[in-house]
Amino acid sequence: MHTRPFRHLHRMPAPVRRKPLVLAAALSLALVVAGAAGATPAGLGPPDPQSPNASGIDDLYWVLVAVTGVIFVIVEGALVAFAVRFRSRGRGREVEGPQIRGHTRLELIWTVIPVLILAGIASFVFSKLPGIKDVPAASAGQSRLRVKVEGHQFYWEFKYPNGVVQVNRMRVPTGRPVVLEITSPDVDHSWWVPALGGKFDAIPGRTNHTWFKVRRPGTYPGQCGEFCGIQHAAMLTSVQALPAAEFDRWFTSEEDAQKAGTSSLGSMTFHGACATCHGDKGQGFIGPRLDLNPITADARALATVIRNGRNKMPAVGKTWDKQQLDATIAYLKKRFAPKGVSSGG
Ligand code: CUA
Repeated sequence: MHTRPFRHLHRMPAPVRRKPLVLAAALSLALVVAGAAGATPAGLGPPDPQSPNASGIDDLYWVLVAVTGVIFVIVEGALVAFAVRFRSRGRGREVEGPQIRGHTRLELIWTVIPVLILAGIASFVFSKLPGIKDVPAASAGQSRLRVKVEGHQFYWEFKYPNGVVQVNRMRVPTGRPVVLEITSPDVDHSWWVPALGGKFDAIPGRTNHTWFKVRRPGTYPGQCGEFCGIQHAAMLTSVQALPAAEFDRWFTSEEDAQKAGTSSLGSMTFHGACATCHGDKGQGFIGPRLDLNPITADARALATVIRNGRNKMPAVGKTWDKQQLDATIAYLKKRFAPKGVSSGG
């Protein structure tokens, strides 16, 4: 028996009330874009760059936004204009338009123009890359500062050449190139302080390098950019840039204090590393409570847990030196140990 294919096409389609739907969609899109644009001071853009490499990234961002924005408006404008201009006007859905094959000039134009656009973008990117990648040469009296950056579950540890250790907050001088050596002793993390350049993974067994040279004193926030476990979202960091003389004063006095065991390293490590899981007051959170926990009086047991981890607790202190371990144990004992329990260490 002969059946007609696509029979349904020959039925007259029911008219659809599209106008309210289109209006609602357009309105919600406008609201979403306006909300996102107003959400941060920089709107949809990256934060105000504070280092030459971040400025390079910022320039690339805005040029790409401009080029793709113009293309978007042209393409979507044409799409809407054609949809309106060539709407059906009651013509049957099965009626086909003229079938045109081969138009050499048109095909050349739509090939050559995109090639030129892409070539333009590529050369702009390559012209900016050296300024983003290459560490500026150190000038006289302005040597580079090298800082080892370790991403840990769930905090950032910074180690300076003179032995100073900092947790979560990195202190640096302004106007001097700071070279970061980024690694991790446990799982993948990602170093990301948007105002000071790009994002670099902290990978076990490998060292990634980046740098910045901060223009103005201030505190620039960052966040671990790679999902690394249950407290990934709490893995915040900041870079605090001080005027060079002020930094130097702090740097030498902190070195002395950490060597003498009189610094706030224990407190800094507790608030940066331990408190993330055990609570700000040691009251317990996703980790057990530390307040009045007998282990805080037992230095040897604490050292073992901190170095090796236990159950769900990561080996937070695997890479700590003796100063940091002692300072942290002393802080935990002083703050949380039940009174009248003797130290097992
Ligand atoms: Cu560390 Cu996410």
